[in-house]
Amino acid sequence: MTESDIKKGLAGVVVDYTAISKVNPETNSLLYRGYPVQELAATQPFEAVAYLLWNGELPSEDQLAALRADERAHRALAPNVKAAIDLLPLEAHPMDEVRTAVSVIGASDTTGGGSVLDAAGSPEENLARSVRLYAALPAIVAYGQRRRRGLELVEPRDDLDYAANFLWMTFGEEADPVVVDAFNRSMTLYAEHSFNASTFTARVITSTLSDLYSAVVGAIGALKGPLHGGANEAVMHIFDEIGSAENVVGWLDAALAEKRKIMGFGHRVYKRGDSRVPTMKAALDSLVAHYDRPEVAALYDALEREFVSRKGIYPNLDYPSGPAYNLIGFDTLTFTPLFIASRVTGWTAHIMEQTAANALIRPLSAYNGLDERHVPGASA
Ligand code: COA
Repeated sequence: MTESDIKKGLAGVVVDYTAISKVNPETNSLLYRGYPVQELAATQPFEAVAYLLWNGELPSEDQLAALRADERAHRALAPNVKAAIDLLPLEAHPMDEVRTAVSVIGASDTTGGGSVLDAAGSPEENLARSVRLYAALPAIVAYGQRRRRGLELVEPRDDLDYAANFLWMTFGEEADPVVVDAFNRSMTLYAEHSFNASTFTARVITSTLSDLYSAVVGAIGALKGPLHGGANEAVMHIFDEIGSAENVVGWLDAALAEKRKIMGFGHRVYKRGDSRVPTMKAALDSLVAHYDRPEVAALYDALEREFVSRKGIYPNLDYPSGPAYNLIGFDTLTFTPLFIASRVTGWTAHIMEQTAANALIRPLSAYNGLDERHVPGASA
């Protein structure tokens, strides 16, 4: 085995087929089940995008109504999940809080068999579990933010769609349609992105015939890292550090001299720009206008201009979504949990796809440790 046989980070390695999404860095496009993501973000409620990812087609009116009814029926925070969250320290990272909550939901779901041999579940069971998890996550994320602010739980509203209800449960007031629309778009843009680290983690766990909840818990762990989902939180820390547009040049000089990675820029697959950025930037612009916060756009533009001209590395989705979530009123620590609430749709679609055509994922490694040696006194 030579150095070139080793595909560090699996870069450039194609490990399987997927029919869920297509990332094309050449044409800077992202398709969910064949549909350009920007068209979905502009025209579809997030519920319809979730349906599409799971079922392969956009829903008819009746199918959408049925999914909405199912989602609304499972929106409330279950008492045992709330109790588990309340046991955690307020300083726990919200990603750990959501990971724990999903674990509790998984352990409480006794609909499958009791044996590990039944863990993988039938396609019908897994679709039902996916819908329930997707329905439950907004309450978990919203309650987490409220708890850290010393506020009470807000019960869901049956008359609001997914995005509007999510904002209602977080802030306890009805959001303006401009805000609901921007938030809905962000949910669609974050929903799916082929074999990224967290999705691949979910597929690895699924490939052992483990259960859907375990795969989602593992995926949440992978998403937490700042090289993946944690970047939207990290972008906001950078914005806070810089303060305003006129500080960008000096801040960037120092950051690059220290060889810091500038969060929200760069992508393993897209090298000439992330296909989701223009749609999310437009959503950010609508929020900047709605809240009358032009200084946010000025800082955004100044850092992008300066970094792209120096490094030729373009923004990824986390760059516009970080300040967008900040304007809506989410705490910085809540940003990556919002990503979970969206990406759970893609993860669960991949879990079902992996289950349907499974092969245990088990790569090889090249050993570079010590040669064989022996414990003193052990007989050879
Ligand atoms: N800031 C500064 N330099 C960056 C950079 C960034 N955000 N992204 C890439 N680079 C530089 C690397 O330092 C490296 O330079 P070198 O060749 O001189 O060592 C070069 O570009 C290649 O980067 P590398 O990290 O090897 O590319 P990758 O494909 O493995 O990484 C990311 C992709 C996403 C991990 C990387 O761009 C990154 O860390 N971005 C910031 C985190 C982020 O926004 N993540 C969200 C992804 S959606």
